[in-house]
Order: sequence, then C-alpha cells, then structure tokens
Amino acid sequence: MSVLSRLRWGHAMLSRSHREDSWWWLGWSFVVGAPLSTAPHVVGAGSPNRALVRVAGALALVGAGYAYTLAPPGSVVRLAWWSWALGALVLAVLGWQFTGWLRDWRHRRRWIRPLDIALRPQLGYPPNMPARSWLSVPPDLADDEEGVRVHLPAAFVGRRIERQRIEDTVTSKLALGDVNVHWRLVSRNHYLQFTAKARPPARVLFRDVAVREIIEPAKPSRPVIGLAAGGRPVGVDLDSESPHMAVSAGTGAGKSNMLRVVAAQLMHHGASLVILDLKRRSHRWAKGLEGVTYCREISEIHRALVELSAEAMDRNVQADQYGDDQEPPWQRRVVLMEELNSTMEELAAYWREELEERGVSPAVRAYRQLLYMGRAVQVHLLTAAQLFTAQSAGGPAARAQYGTIVMSRFNQRAWKMLLPEITPVPKSGRQPGRGWVALGGEAEETQIVFMTERECREWAASGKPSAVAVSRSPQDHGSQGKPTATVAVQPRLAIVPDDPADDPDEGLVTLWQASIDKGDAWVGLRYDHLRKAAERGGDFPEPVRVDGRRRLYTPESLQRWVSNRERSGSGGR
Ligand SMILES: Nc1ncnc2c1ncn2[C@@H]1O[C@H](COP(=O)(O)OP(=O)(O)OP(=O)(O)O)[C@@H](O)[C@H]1O
Ligand SMILES: [Mg+2]
Repeated sequence: MSVLSRLRWGHAMLSRSHREDSWWWLGWSFVVGAPLSTAPHVVGAGSPNRALVRVAGALALVGAGYAYTLAPPGSVVRLAWWSWALGALVLAVLGWQFTGWLRDWRHRRRWIRPLDIALRPQLGYPPNMPARSWLSVPPDLADDEEGVRVHLPAAFVGRRIERQRIEDTVTSKLALGDVNVHWRLVSRNHYLQFTAKARPPARVLFRDVAVREIIEPAKPSRPVIGLAAGGRPVGVDLDSESPHMAVSAGTGAGKSNMLRVVAAQLMHHGASLVILDLKRRSHRWAKGLEGVTYCREISEIHRALVELSAEAMDRNVQADQYGDDQEPPWQRRVVLMEELNSTMEELAAYWREELEERGVSPAVRAYRQLLYMGRAVQVHLLTAAQLFTAQSAGGPAARAQYGTIVMSRFNQRAWKMLLPEITPVPKSGRQPGRGWVALGGEAEETQIVFMTERECREWAASGKPSAVAVSRSPQDHGSQGKPTATVAVQPRLAIVPDDPADDPDEGLVTLWQASIDKGDAWVGLRYDHLRKAAERGGDFPEPVRVDGRRRLYTPESLQRWVSNRERSGSGGR
C-alpha cells in the first residue's frame, strides 16, 4: 500500500498536505505552504524519472486491463511482447539515468552533500526531502546563467542575520569567490541565487594595440584608469565629475602605477606635473621631463604646496573674467602626491620642529585650499595612501573633496570606513592592478592599465607640450635641485613671463609683502618669522634698497635663503 501511495503522492514534506511530487509534472516539484490544488512549481532541471515511471506504469496497467477485457486469441502473447518492450525501455531509461548519476556523483559528494548538511537545518527542510528538490548547484558556475539556486521555504522571513548566515554557508561550502547574490522573497516562489560576476580582463597593458586604441581618443579631461568587465573603459572626468582622485591600497598593489598612468595621459594632453614624493624614487619615469617638478625633500614639498595654492588662488580670481564657454588661458596642473599619510605628518613636523612655528602648517592649509578650489582652477590632486583616512587627508571635509577613490588590496574594515555607502563589500583579492573605482556611491571593479616607466615617459612627452608658460625664477629652480622645475614661484600667475631681475626697481618686496600670512606668500614663512630672522642677521639677505623705514628685497634672495635654510636644517631628511 505504502509503495502505491508513494508512487501516487510522493513523500510527505513539511506536513501531510504538502508533497514533494505531482502526477503529471516532470521532475521533482513541490508547493511549499500552498494548497495541493494549486499548480506545483518545477524545481531546477529536475529528474524526469518519477513522472515517466508513473505515466508508463499507468499506461501499461490500462493497456493490460483493456487487452484482458477484449481477450482475443493471442492477446496474452502480445501483452508479453509489449511487457518486454516496455521493460527494455525502462531499463534503457534507467541505464541512461545511471550513467548521468555516475557522472554527477563526484560533484554531489564533493560540493552538494557538504552544503546540504550545513544548510538543511538552517532552512528547516525535513531529512527525507531530496537535496535536489531545493538546491541546484551547476558543475561550472562561471558558465551557467542560472547559477547556484537555493529554494526557500514559504515561511522564510529573511531576517538580516539569517540571510547573512545562509549566504556565508553557501559561499564557504562551495568556495565561491566574488559572486552576485540575489534574494527573491516576494510572491510564492522564494529563492536565493548566486551567479558568477562578469570580471574585468586579467591584464590591461598599454602596449596592447586594443588598449592604445581606447586611450588615444579619450577626452583630455577624462583619462582612462582601466577596463571593467567586458572591456568597458573606466575613467573619471576631472572637469565635470571629480577634480581629485585618491588611491588607497596596500603596499605593492599598484598605486604608483595608477598615478603615473593618469598623470602621463594628462601630460600627453598638455598638463604640467608637480610630484611630491618623500620616497624619492616612485616616479623616475618623470625625471627631467619638460613640465615636471619633482619635490623629494619635505622643505620642497612644503614650498611647492604653498606656491601651488597661491597660484590656484590667483587663477580663481582670474576665473571670474572667463565665461563657462571660454577656455581659461592656463595649463592644467596635476599634483601627484605619494604616501599621503607620512607626507602630512612630515609637513606638520617640519613646520613645528624645523621652522619652530606654531599652529597649522601653511602647507597643510595650502593642500586643503587646493582641494577646495581644484575644479575651477584646473589644479588636480592625484593622491596615493596606504590607508586614506580622514586624518591623513586633512580632515573629513577635505577627504570628501576627493570625488573618486580607488581601492585595491583593502580589508573589509578599510572599505567600510572609506566607502560605507557601498555594500556589499567586495572581496579584494591579490591580483596586481585590480582595483575598485568608486565615484558617486558606486564602485566598479576595474583592471588598472599598466604602463612601464618608459611608456609613461614617452606618452607624457608626446602629444601637446607640457612646458609651463610661466616661470619667473630660473635661479630658484636651481635651488630645488632640478633642471626643469616649473612651479611658478610667484603667487600671481602672470600670463606673460617677465623676469624681475631685468628691472631691479620693480618687483622688490618688503618682508610684509613676502610673508605668507600678511602678504603674497613669496615665501612660505610668516611675517614675524621673517622679521626676527632679518633682525638676527647671519646669512639673511641684505635689502636691495631702503626707502625710509621700508626695506626692500628681491623675492629670489628671500626664496634662496629659505631654501638653503631648509636644506641645511632638514639634514638627513
Ligand atoms: N595595473 C597593473 N597591472 C599589472 N601589474 C601591475 C599593475 N600595477 C602594478 N603592477 C605590478 O605591481 C608592482 C608594484 O606596483 P607599484 O609600484 O605601482 O605599487 P605601489 O602600490 O606603488 O607599491 P609601494 O607601496 O611599494 O609604493 C609593479 O611593479 C607591477 O609589477
Ligand atoms: Mg608606490
């Protein structure tokens, strides 16, 4: 009786009225929590076994009954032949099923069974319910559109903690990497699905023609950072989307490469570059290139920031004269800052301990001002940090000025701190150059373009010239120890270059005018500091002219004095 009942109804499931199977439907079907009269749902690919056996069995019974009632001569013999034929058919089907079962056996033993054991108690399915009726795991997830499916009982509430546990169980038992997770909890058909994510290419090399063909036509203001899934270019428009960019990544993850890839593209379109690199050797590719200023000492970095900010202020004032549709007459300036965390610390220490000043370092203030002004004045900060904390970025408000954050080789805590609005946290992996480019609340997995130093150099030097139009203090460049220093050392960025040395009566400044706090920041020191130094004498420059109580100096002599002082003071730095 029980055999017949099971043939007709299948196993009882959650209660007597809920069965695992139906009569006509192929495959294992069930309706969880719905009346038996409603159409059952077919789960996964299923097995046609039970329905075939039932239908064939029923037909055989009806046929035998029919033959028996007619009882013509030879009907028993014919019936025997039919039975043999039917038996052979059933055997063939079973044989076919068996070979399939044999093929899947390893897969089930290795993946499905352990997951079944771990997941079944969480979902509350009875032990006699076959795993394949609620769980489908394709042998190769990457090639399967359906992916892994876990059908959920109708009573499943899906509280956050339960969901998380179920997700963790599936991902750990099946060793799934970074996958799309989809919960469907509406209507009757509840399930959880894991599908493979489309991934970016494994490598994106600048030397590949296909990559070059993407980079070459890119908009000058929108350098290509890398390629996303399907080879889609990922870039950020510095003029319209985000003027500054930060990369937060562990050591060796490819920070310097990313910065140089972006910088080289911008230089190719005519931008000039200021590199602030305490590590000294991160950007050898740019050494000696036209339009590049390389600052290695903390004193140079301090000065460069102060000067850049003064220049940006000046551009800001000039910007009023130009409408939105007019090209401003200045060059895009890119400031590449390595090791943000230690540079900020060193700047503060330099101001306090070496210059013996109090308060916030003017270089740190200048850095913040650059962040706030960036877009309008086309001065862009590209910053690298091991961990892009608010403290190292100059405070939370300053950090918010970085519209684009690229994360690579991060841990969960770092992501939650920097991009709390973007969930779920992706798995970071160890592949070099693999990053997540986050902009406007979305992060895109991207394989960053890789350029060798030589390629960067050649690309930056080709295209539009990157030479800075204005450079009023050639002597001062010498003091920075670089042949092509191009940071405009005067705060006002005059469009037409003129050398103050040609006209000694013009271009002289008082200490008041030269100071950073009272005047035009010809040097990065405060008035009080300059005045005391002048009173002490020593190697402080002599005034070129004295007009009554006004003592006038050439800005260059003051700048040289500051440079030499910083150099001798910074010693081993
Ligand atoms: N986009 C990329 N594609 C392939 N390989 C890369 C990529 N970026 C970096 N690499 C590899 O990783 C190495 C380290 O890169 P890079 O020097 O840029 O890292 P970093 O984060 O600046 O390291 P550090 O913290 O030491 O400054 C490179 O020499 C290169 O071999
Ligand atoms: Mg580096």
